[in-house]
Amino acid sequence: MDSYVVSAAVRERLARPQPLLIGGHWCEAADGGVSDIFNPSNGEQLGTAASATRDDCERAIAAARQSFDGGSWTALTPAQRGKILWRVADLLEEYGDEVAELEMLDAGKPFAAVRQGEIPFAADCFRYFAGWCTKIEGSTKQLSTVPGQEFHIYTRREPIGVAALIVPWNGPLVQAAWKVAPALAAGCSCILKPATETPLSSVKLGEILVEAGVPEGVFNLLLGSGASAGQLLAEHPDVDKVSFTGSTDVGKRIIDAARGNLKKVSLELGGKSPVVVFADADIEAAIAGVAQGIFSHAGQVCVAGSRLYVEEPVYEEVVAGVAAIARNMRVGPATAPDMDMGPLISKRHLASVFELVQEGIKSGARLMAGGQQIAEQGGYYMEPTVFADTRHGMRIVEEEIFGPVLAAMPFKSDTDIAALANDNDYGLAASVWTRDISRAHKTAARLKAGILWINCHGIPDAAVPFGGYRQSGWGRENGFESLLQYTELKSVVASL
Ligand code: TAP
Repeated sequence: MDSYVVSAAVRERLARPQPLLIGGHWCEAADGGVSDIFNPSNGEQLGTAASATRDDCERAIAAARQSFDGGSWTALTPAQRGKILWRVADLLEEYGDEVAELEMLDAGKPFAAVRQGEIPFAADCFRYFAGWCTKIEGSTKQLSTVPGQEFHIYTRREPIGVAALIVPWNGPLVQAAWKVAPALAAGCSCILKPATETPLSSVKLGEILVEAGVPEGVFNLLLGSGASAGQLLAEHPDVDKVSFTGSTDVGKRIIDAARGNLKKVSLELGGKSPVVVFADADIEAAIAGVAQGIFSHAGQVCVAGSRLYVEEPVYEEVVAGVAAIARNMRVGPATAPDMDMGPLISKRHLASVFELVQEGIKSGARLMAGGQQIAEQGGYYMEPTVFADTRHGMRIVEEEIFGPVLAAMPFKSDTDIAALANDNDYGLAASVWTRDISRAHKTAARLKAGILWINCHGIPDAAVPFGGYRQSGWGRENGFESLLQYTELKSVVASL
């Protein structure tokens, strides 16, 4: 039984519609329109959020444009900007309990996972990019084309301008941090658009950015529909860059929408990440790692290890081990302190995950654990599910399910495992489990994935770039590479 009592601060916050932040002012939508927000742990309405109109979007873009062109952010020294971003990190930690509660209620993430994992991680991200503010540099060059004349040639890294940052519901705070921190560090002005399902932590992040001293108009927040507000941001001629995380289908729509002014686009899209376990691996560690790689946040993670390839001699043992973990997991409200796995984000998403699971059963895969929805206090729960004896061509092997569903298959020692693991449209992440260091690095080199873990899975870091090969996207989040995506490079050639 979930007896969670919402704190007074959050109750007060939820009593009013979640507002937009435009040009430094918190406001309702121009037409007063709102959308409902639900708690995925019990299906109950949490509150409402403003639903930005076209006019609100235009005003937010104009505010960002004006602040960028007026130089209110870039006029600060890099050290001053860095100090403000560092302050954002401090405030995220200071308000950590409240932010964690919002993320738990809104996104269905267990409190401890957010408080001890995602909040320090988001704070680290702001600190990491705070450090880069003073280290954005050009270089000097030499000219060979004009002999006998002297030149002074250098490059400048300049902020790209107005950046639209569109994030999904599965990691609202962290994914916002991954975009807002490098965009601001680069000197951009920005507009954040969270998913309709999960606006709460973005509003709190907006308050923190204001409190930390980000000048008005530099950070704007639009809540509301992706199909209208998101689409307009991607199309708008006054937006110079769009950074998007979400589904591959919408990512392709963003590319089309960005054509008008050829704005720069970075995309972090879906995945169907392979996990390869060789027979010489530490089997106990591999079993635990495979389970964590697919069941963490109920599989609603872009890098979820959802395709499992196990070398034949240890296949049954590994699959049985993961299935045993799945069967023993406590699934229930994110608000309960002792749950291993919380709900899926929505009724609609649960239905789509369940449909694919049923399809897996029909297609002849061997169900080792789970397979059912769980009726729990109105929330959207799916049993951790393990399929054995799956094969390429099955939808559960080919498609991103974005739920706690693992598709396992054996491979023989002489199989070209890289060819098998690479046989998918996506290329976001992968992991390899083996004690053989040569095999580990050789396999790492051959797998087509933006991030590859050896003897671990799903460990992120603000300093480590990650993003997609193939249909998993364009560009990288995190690391200096992410910051560069919010800059333009200018060469200056001066005849002396
Ligand atoms: P999407 O529909 O792609 O939504 C992601 C973000 O884009 C949301 O903020 C959404 O706003 C916005 N959006 C929707 N249509 C848009 C458009 N035409 N132009 C601009 N922005 C638009 O993802 P979803 O519905 O949240 O999830 C669907 C599937 O996407 C999942 O099942 C999963 O496969 C995948 N997914 C992947 C990731 C990662 S991290 N790679 C994360 C989440 C989901 P609204 O919320 O208002 O629609």
